[in-house]
Amino acid sequence: MSNTTPTRRLWREMNVFDGLHTLPEPMAVITDGARVASLVPMREFDEEIAEGCHDMGRGGVMTPGLVDCHTHLVFGGSRADEFEARLEGISYEEIARRGGGILSTVTATREASEDELLELARPRLEALIADGVTTVEIKSGYGLTVGDELKMLRVARRLGEALPVRVVTTLLGAHALPPEFKDESDGYIDLVCQEMVPAAASEGLADAVDVFCEKIAFSVAQCERVFEAAEAHGLPIKAHAEQLSNLGGTAMAARHGALSADHIEYLDEAGIAAMRKAGSVAVILPGAFHTLRETQQPPIAALREAGVPMAVATDANPGSSPLFMPTLMLNLACTLFRLTPQEALAGMTAHGATALGLKGEGRIREGAAADLCVWNVDTPAALAYAVQPGRLHQRLFQGELTHA
Ligand code: NIG
Ligand code: FE
Repeated sequence: MSNTTPTRRLWREMNVFDGLHTLPEPMAVITDGARVASLVPMREFDEEIAEGCHDMGRGGVMTPGLVDCHTHLVFGGSRADEFEARLEGISYEEIARRGGGILSTVTATREASEDELLELARPRLEALIADGVTTVEIKSGYGLTVGDELKMLRVARRLGEALPVRVVTTLLGAHALPPEFKDESDGYIDLVCQEMVPAAASEGLADAVDVFCEKIAFSVAQCERVFEAAEAHGLPIKAHAEQLSNLGGTAMAARHGALSADHIEYLDEAGIAAMRKAGSVAVILPGAFHTLRETQQPPIAALREAGVPMAVATDANPGSSPLFMPTLMLNLACTLFRLTPQEALAGMTAHGATALGLKGEGRIREGAAADLCVWNVDTPAALAYAVQPGRLHQRLFQGELTHA
């Protein structure tokens, strides 16, 4: 630890989106080391406040660092051929049934070493960082053996050490049925519950456990067994559910206190009620909807009406969402699903944090972490309005300036 006084930084005339709302008047924002020290309306600003502060400039939009709460950034190989096949009319499910899709990424990921996976994932994560991300969730799910799942999680942890970003890891062993367990899906779930979850937990490699509850993946009953194993090891849970059909996985996940249910295009009223009761976050993934050219809209109006918080994430992955630009997701969430720009931004800040079990984070307020972005745009809504790389002007991660 160094003994130097923490750096105080001052921004003036900021148009602040605080993680839930756009503040009604221009603000001065002061950070002290790794924390936000104060937020003062400009009309109350007094030059005394500026004393001892680094002047960080004036004007522009300030948001919390973006929280991308659902990604699959660690993988080997490419699925460009699958993209072309889907354009010719073969569905995502059909490709999966033929052994392609997720399983083709599994083959390439198993073949890659930990170091190779790290170098493949690094530029993907750098792209997210350059678009304002300060917290990112990274899932496993392309290993599907104990060793390969742990390898992916170790890569995710190493990415968090190598780059200025907080990485939250999720074990997604129940992502697809690996070929060795063909016609033995309960046997594979035994492996997930009896070996993968305990190993990931004891090595401290997973912050949560996820499942893919779908006809082409695992049943509600199988996913419930995985959740029971997670609970037994003290790990929070979340689910890919109701993406391609309505199986009721969300309601079951909510009964187990899921942090989030993700995708949820086919979610019904009972699922919404269960989420509301459990306080689960609805993670909206417009990138997958767009890429798979889906037509079933997630029930945004009903979620809003029920007061279920909605997060927005990239779902960055090689198949259903090869899109590595968080602010594009703000745009797609508005244009495809009619979220308001404010809702989309809250979805990638405060509610994204809640979906990761970091309730209260993804905010700008006194005492909050100094994970902040300053953008070269006129209003917070403009971040969702235009799709334009390079608008990030400054990025602070744990109080350190990483982009200026
Ligand atoms: O979130 N839905 C399942 N899993 C991923 C897709 C992974 C892939 O296609 O490689 C998703 O969309
Ligand atoms: Fe996903």
